[in-house]
Amino acid sequence: MELSGRGIARSVVRRANSFGATPISSRGVFNRAVGRLGDADGSGALHKAVGGKIVLVTGASSGIGRAAAVRMAAAGALVLVVARSEDQLAEVVEEVTEAGGLAVAYRCDLADLEQVDALVTKVLDAHGHVDILVNNAGMSIRRKVRHSQDRFQDFERPMQLNYFAAVRLTMGLLPTMVERESGQIINISSWAAMLHPARFSGYTASKAALEAWSDCVQGEVHDDGIVFTNVRMPLVRTPMITPTKLYSRMPALSMEQAATVVCDAAVSRSRRVTPLVAAWAAFAESISPSLGDAIRKNAI
Ligand SMILES: NC(=O)c1ccc[n+]([C@@H]2O[C@H](COP(=O)([O-])OP(=O)(O)OC[C@H]3O[C@@H](n4cnc5c(N)ncnc54)[C@H](OP(=O)(O)O)[C@@H]3O)[C@@H](O)[C@H]2O)c1
Repeated sequence: MELSGRGIARSVVRRANSFGATPISSRGVFNRAVGRLGDADGSGALHKAVGGKIVLVTGASSGIGRAAAVRMAAAGALVLVVARSEDQLAEVVEEVTEAGGLAVAYRCDLADLEQVDALVTKVLDAHGHVDILVNNAGMSIRRKVRHSQDRFQDFERPMQLNYFAAVRLTMGLLPTMVERESGQIINISSWAAMLHPARFSGYTASKAALEAWSDCVQGEVHDDGIVFTNVRMPLVRTPMITPTKLYSRMPALSMEQAATVVCDAAVSRSRRVTPLVAAWAAFAESISPSLGDAIRKNAI
């Protein structure tokens, strides 16, 4: 039996392909998630989980964040949508409002920590608290380390947005959550944080850092009714992956499916959401790191 890196990589992709439209976790779990959520107009479990609550979604002008914000608003949440593009945020607010929901846009460049602090002040002044924070805004860089030799920003920029901004925002909103003994922080992480793919060192490190930080803090706020959920998202067909031609041939969730995964995290309040294929790959690597190295060496 072929056990070369390329062979293993092919079989992982085949396995991912076999999930077809339901790649997160497993077909059964995914279908149960959809069942629990009820229909898209907000009835059922999602309505119970987010109805009447204040949900702040960063990176809600596009992709996963936008789809999740629209879905949560349809289920009765007041969604606070945050990003830099005012026009796109206005479109999201319009879409939500036309559907009878509630949304407020906050323009913020999260890479600027002073703007993050100002956002926290504005949000708390206007709404008093946030029930669910979705740390979704993010950026990805796919580049070999040798091509980043003179580009240290390839490591600083993902850390600034994917890690420091999320930590700063979470720290701004956490005290009121603790005071109210209630809250959830959903981090849109990536399966890269488990698989450590070649060419994604800066991105992967930033996602792994946020997961690790959140797990540490979870231990401190466990008795305060706060839950951190790390969603290790697999590939999702969004503007983020469009520049990489290779991804057009790979299996990926739709934005709607990814939004369902985020909404399900609000329903289940699980500590982690992990694609089954990534869990198996991480397990294999925990037994033999060279297995993971073989895949990484050959993966494009
Ligand atoms: N797509 C995937 O395959 C995939 C897989 C695993 C994990 N993820 C994660 O999922 C999250 C969402 O990604 P996506 O695929 O939905 O990408 P996307 O469509 O490109 O959306 C990224 C969002 O982040 C916002 N953003 C970027 N820089 C920002 C900044 N400095 N300040 C405020 N907002 C900023 C963007 O809004 P503005 O440009 O308007 O600011 C946009 O709303 C990211 O954290 C990503 O790492 C994605």
